[in-house]
Amino acid sequence: MARYTAGDLVKLLRESGTLVSGEQLSRQLGISRTAVWKHISALRSLGYQIDAVPSQGYCLRVEPEQLCEDSLCSLLGEVRSIGRKIVCLAETGSTNAEAFRLAESGAVEGTVVLADRQTAGKGRMGRRWESPAGVNLYCSVILRPSLPPYEAPQLTFLSAVAVARTIQRVSGVEPTIKWPNDILIHGCKVAGLLNEMNAETDQIGFVILGIGINLNMRQEQFPEDLRSPATSLMLASGSPVSRLAFTVQLLKELEGEYQRFLLYGFEPVRREWEQFCNAYGRQVRVEVGANVVEGAFGGIDSDGAMLVQLEGGRRERVLSGDVKVL
Ligand code: BTN
Repeated sequence: MARYTAGDLVKLLRESGTLVSGEQLSRQLGISRTAVWKHISALRSLGYQIDAVPSQGYCLRVEPEQLCEDSLCSLLGEVRSIGRKIVCLAETGSTNAEAFRLAESGAVEGTVVLADRQTAGKGRMGRRWESPAGVNLYCSVILRPSLPPYEAPQLTFLSAVAVARTIQRVSGVEPTIKWPNDILIHGCKVAGLLNEMNAETDQIGFVILGIGINLNMRQEQFPEDLRSPATSLMLASGSPVSRLAFTVQLLKELEGEYQRFLLYGFEPVRREWEQFCNAYGRQVRVEVGANVVEGAFGGIDSDGAMLVQLEGGRRERVLSGDVKVL
C-alpha cells in the first residue's frame, strides 16, 4: 500500500487552493485525522503557513521557498534510492563537482546535492551554466548502477524524461526534448543536463546526473550572449513555481524512472523520450566538432546515439554534437 507523506498532503492543499476539511484529507490520504494533524504540525515547523479554521478545515497560505534537507526529506517520505541523503548548499562552484567529490569519498547511491547558487556552473561542451541565487534548481544526483560504461548515456535520456514529466506535472506546460538532453518550451531552452562518470574499463563506478532548470528566472537575469533562446518555467507558464514542490516532484520522477530502468532496461525510457521529441522526420543539422551532418532525424539507438537519415539513403549515427532542427 502507498505510504502517504507530508508532501502528498501539501499537494492536496495546494491543488485545492481553498479550505479542505480534516475529514476529506484523512479520507483522500487513507490516514487518521490525528495523522493529518501531525503532518500539519510538522509542515508548520518547516515554515509552511497553514491556517486551521475550526470545524472547516485547513488552508495552505504560504510555502517556504528555501531548499533545506529537513523539508525535502519529510516531503519525500521514505525513498528507495534517490534522495536517501540530501545535501543543500547555499553556494558552491558546481553541484556536479561537489557530488563527484562526495561520490569519490563513498557517498551512497541516491545522494542528491542541491545549491541555491553556483559560482562555476558547468554546461555541456565546456560552456558555463548561468546559476543566479534563489530562483532556479541546480541539482546533482549520484547513481551507482551495475552497468558497463557504454550504457551510461542511457541515464541522460532517463533524466531528460524525468525532468520533462516534472515540468508537465507541476506547471501543466508541455515541454519537448531536443537530442540529446535539452528540455525546451516553445523552442526555448528551459533545462539542461550534464552527466559525468567515473568508470573502470567494464564497470561504471558512479554517474553524476547534473540537472539545471530555469524555474523563476526573470528575463533580465539571462546573459545577453546566449547561443540559443532560453526561458524559465515562470516566463513560459506565467506563474512562479515553488522550488520545493518542483524538487520533490523531480526526485520522485527520477526515482520512478530509475527503478523502472533497473527492472526493464532502456526500451521503456526510449519510448517515453520519443513522446517528448517532436523532431521525428524533420531536417536536422548537427555540428560534430568541425564536421556537419545534415538529414532527417530518425530517432535514437539503444545506446542513445542519434540516427540521421542522409539524403542518399545512408543512415548516420551521431554520438555527440550540437543539433539544430531546421
Ligand atoms: C547544458 O549545457 O545544457 C547542461 C547544463 C547542466 C547544468 C547543471 S546545473 C546542476 C549541475 N551542476 C553543474 O555545474 N552543471 C549541472
